[in-house]
Amino acid sequence: MIIGVPKEIKNNENRVALTPSGVVEMKKHGHEVYVQATAGLGSGFSDEEFQSAGATILPTIEDVYAIAEMIIKVKEPIEYEYDLIKEDQLLFTYFHFASYEPLTKAMIESKAVCLAYETVEKGRSLPLLVPMSEVAGRMSIQEGAKYLEKPEQGRGILLGGVPGVKPAKVLVLGGGVVGTQAAKMAAGMGADVTIMDISLDRLRYLDDVMAANVKTMMSSEYNIRQEIKTADLIVGAVLIPGAKAPHLVTRDMLKEMRPGTVLVDVAVDQGGCIETCKPTTHNEPTFIIDDVVHYCVANMPGAVPYTSTLALTNATLPYAIELANKGWKKACNENPQLKPGLNVVKGDVVYKAVAEAFDLPYVAVEQYLQEEVEA
Ligand SMILES: NC(=O)c1ccc[n+]([C@@H]2O[C@H](COP(=O)([O-])OP(=O)(O)OC[C@H]3O[C@@H](n4cnc5c(N)ncnc54)[C@H](O)[C@@H]3O)[C@@H](O)[C@H]2O)c1
Repeated sequence: MIIGVPKEIKNNENRVALTPSGVVEMKKHGHEVYVQATAGLGSGFSDEEFQSAGATILPTIEDVYAIAEMIIKVKEPIEYEYDLIKEDQLLFTYFHFASYEPLTKAMIESKAVCLAYETVEKGRSLPLLVPMSEVAGRMSIQEGAKYLEKPEQGRGILLGGVPGVKPAKVLVLGGGVVGTQAAKMAAGMGADVTIMDISLDRLRYLDDVMAANVKTMMSSEYNIRQEIKTADLIVGAVLIPGAKAPHLVTRDMLKEMRPGTVLVDVAVDQGGCIETCKPTTHNEPTFIIDDVVHYCVANMPGAVPYTSTLALTNATLPYAIELANKGWKKACNENPQLKPGLNVVKGDVVYKAVAEAFDLPYVAVEQYLQEEVEA
């Protein structure tokens, strides 16, 4: 198959969908890979590295879309790309259709096949979202530690303390992927960590695997009110699938916190679990309300494109290879993980939640996959 890797043109997006190592694997399976010039630079991969891995470098994004049967990207196509997408072209990338109607309509019109990273399912987990949660979870402590410094208007406390001085207290709300990675990093830096969740099973697991300086606690309004009074850094890492995050830390609670407390609301992309959080960017990541520092960057992994690109492509490459080897119909018929990734196929919305979000007709994907089986 002919694979195209365009350069990401979304603002501040430095990741790339395939690394030189991924190119080598694709070539081994007999596929041709075309990469847009400078596509990998933001993540630290030069055109020369891609070339020596066996890719052909094309000068423009138009060239890449024109030649490719399958486009592998990171972010959803933006307006400029809509007209470049061809009928029957397979697009494998993050789409987040339900949050943007013009994109959904444009992809319907293109009659392309849109397989979204975010809805690929492995059991009950979303394997192509996990790596970015891992990055954001680990980063939340790195950023939190920085904003606890006095010049950043934090409390001026060192996360790990020093001999003779107590460490900082870190409260993590939500013990899923983000929360687990956050607790692990904070514990590694010597902080006094408490992790809260509403799942007792999850708390049992965390209690078993975490270091001794991590305590678990049931998440409840009462417990949160108690803990925030002495916490130095609070990480919001809650997710209720398909719903807005609940506001676990409300506006009135800020007054109970000490001045210079830092809030990192990783869940801001789902509305945030801290009431006063509003999405911020890497250019201006924080703001202050009631002397409490708020860090609410909605695309945290964007600040560490090298790590994020490798983490993402480690997860996407096996699926991309399967799609290239078998074509999307056979791959989705044979791999139940890939099938729910199909969102828009040749002009039809085949993912229920997307159809419902915009009141569009829904077509069961089986109709398309059946054709393959019969053929
Ligand atoms: N800002 C970013 O750059 C960025 C990057 C990656 C992920 N995220 C977001 O981070 C959030 C967490 O993602 P995740 O992968 O860890 O999700 P996850 O599903 O792995 O974990 C969520 C956890 O929250 C728990 N939870 C639900 N309600 C709770 C409550 N009331 N109190 C305490 N815990 C509760 C669940 O039991 C679960 O363990 C999501 O909103 C995700 O979109 C943001």
